[in-house]
Amino acid sequence: MTSAIEVSGLRKTFAKTVVLDGIDLDVRAGTIFSLLGPNGAGKTTTVNVLTTLMRADSGSVRIDGHDAVTEAKAVRARIGVTGQFAAVDDLLTGRENLQLMVDLHGGRGKRSVDELLKRFDLVEAAPKPAATYSGGMRRKLDLAMTLVGDPRIIFLDEPTTGLDPRSRRTMWDIVRALVADGVTIFLTTQYLEEADQLADRIAVLDQGRLVAQGSPAELKRQVPGTNVRLAFTAAADLDAAARLFPDAGRDDESLTLRVPSDGGTTSLRALLNRLDEHSLSATEFAVDTPDLDDVFLALTGHNTKVDAE
Ligand SMILES: Nc1ncnc2c1ncn2[C@@H]1O[C@H](COP(=O)(O)OP(=O)(O)O)[C@@H](O)[C@H]1O
Ligand SMILES: [Mg+2]
Repeated sequence: MTSAIEVSGLRKTFAKTVVLDGIDLDVRAGTIFSLLGPNGAGKTTTVNVLTTLMRADSGSVRIDGHDAVTEAKAVRARIGVTGQFAAVDDLLTGRENLQLMVDLHGGRGKRSVDELLKRFDLVEAAPKPAATYSGGMRRKLDLAMTLVGDPRIIFLDEPTTGLDPRSRRTMWDIVRALVADGVTIFLTTQYLEEADQLADRIAVLDQGRLVAQGSPAELKRQVPGTNVRLAFTAAADLDAAARLFPDAGRDDESLTLRVPSDGGTTSLRALLNRLDEHSLSATEFAVDTPDLDDVFLALTGHNTKVDAE
């Protein structure tokens, strides 16, 4: 297995704030690696250092075997970066933005403007100024611009933050298609679901340190799973329901039961049918899926907002 990205002992301090506190990573070629962490964890700083935009205080970064400091040019030739804040020029149309990128590559961009517009479903929008684009369209255009040079390693810094669910799914499909083409993806996100959906490996970043690393399945074994929360009006009903679901956790004060579940419709229907068969009805029914806060609580003992300014 070849490594696309190898990072060891990365440290970065701004003034007196330690932002990266010894990061070690190994991303295999052709996989999706997700750096998961809340606002301020150090994700963008990591991306900046890995993409030669910023120098670390210490540690080493190798991209496709090339040192990010001494061989920065070789590194830049191999990577594409889509920033948290899109590099799209508002005054230009979508087509002009892409054409500009092709020109910056000396007209030698391996992919044509038309091919990219088509691939990202931007043909209709192409003659309109980027200022009129939705958030999802901007991200797509930004990624299309990144692909002009046909990079084999792509860094996506929070590519779906602020997007509506549909645009988010479109972006996920695009990322999957890139990996199917053999591209390596380094993706940062604040969404556990996104890392879970896309990544082969996830590293959890907390205040400049990696607090966990593994496959999505390995990581999820360390955090509480999906629960169905049922609330009852009478203690007797809670007792009866607790007997039906021995794995469930109960809270006598709020008369609620938390039943472990995969959250799928089949098991949810089975659960409701069981309640029905025993003439039990809950006054509340909710499916609680773990989010980044739950992961952080489980892994670090504190939630994501501990450092909020
Ligand atoms: N240029 C800078 N100067 C001083 N502090 C910075 C600078 N860039 C980032 N930071 C600080 O470093 C921490 C991590 O920032 P960042 O890497 O942007 O996190 P993330 O992308 O995970 O939200 C934050 O506390 C931020 O305020
Ligand atoms: Mg950031």
